[in-house]
Amino acid sequence: MSESSDVIAKTIDHVKRTLAGDSSGHDWWHIDRVRKTSVVIATGERADLFVVELAALLHDIADWKFHGGDETAGPRAARDWLVQNDVSAATIDAVCGIIANVSYKGAGVPTEMPTLEGKCVQDADRLDAIGAIGIARAFAFGGHFGRSMYDPEIPAEIHESFAAYKSKGGPTINHFYEKLLLLKDRMQTAEGKRLALQRHQVMEDFLKQFFAEWNATPMIPDVHLQ
Ligand code: ADP
Ligand code: NI
Repeated sequence: MSESSDVIAKTIDHVKRTLAGDSSGHDWWHIDRVRKTSVVIATGERADLFVVELAALLHDIADWKFHGGDETAGPRAARDWLVQNDVSAATIDAVCGIIANVSYKGAGVPTEMPTLEGKCVQDADRLDAIGAIGIARAFAFGGHFGRSMYDPEIPAEIHESFAAYKSKGGPTINHFYEKLLLLKDRMQTAEGKRLALQRHQVMEDFLKQFFAEWNATPMIPDVHLQ
């Protein structure tokens, strides 16, 4: 086993143990899907696969949502783990830089990802938030945090700051308009853009059907909340 595949194997084991039993959509299988999609994207982009795989595996190890809003917890936990495993300083910096920048921070907040490896991981993470799995994860997240499914009296919001996005607590359907439907235009890699188009369509179809059933209309209404 090469040194890098040994670190990957140990990291898989570490992440599986840390995220076991999560029911908010940030479980081990999310990580597994993001790792696989990241590798597909990164191969097409000729990015550094060791950095990409480590960042994909560690990107949700200590998410701010579950650590009192602390955005530094994730990169710190990843750094501690990689230092313990004698990973080079350059790789650690690259991986932790990705983890620090990977999260969505609100519709009006730019999230620049400076490196090619980061773009691959961010696209893969965002692809897992859209399409059929994205729909399932959104409702799993909403249930976990006690959110209502939909409330026509609570409009979706465009958050202009991370603080406003962090403190939101709206119904799950609003999250589609506040984040999920916006992701296809924020993809940064060729394969990410291609995959996002098809997954986006799945969400558009789901929302049309959702509102048709909600309103008991046989016609397909416009999916956009106004
Ligand atoms: P990121 O990976 O950009 O940090 P999140 O951790 O916010 O993304 O999202 C992880 C999953 O939880 C995604 O599938 C996302 O749609 C879902 N999620 C996050 N916030 C909400 C919310 N307010 N309502 C429903 N689903 C949410
Ligand atoms: Ni994630």
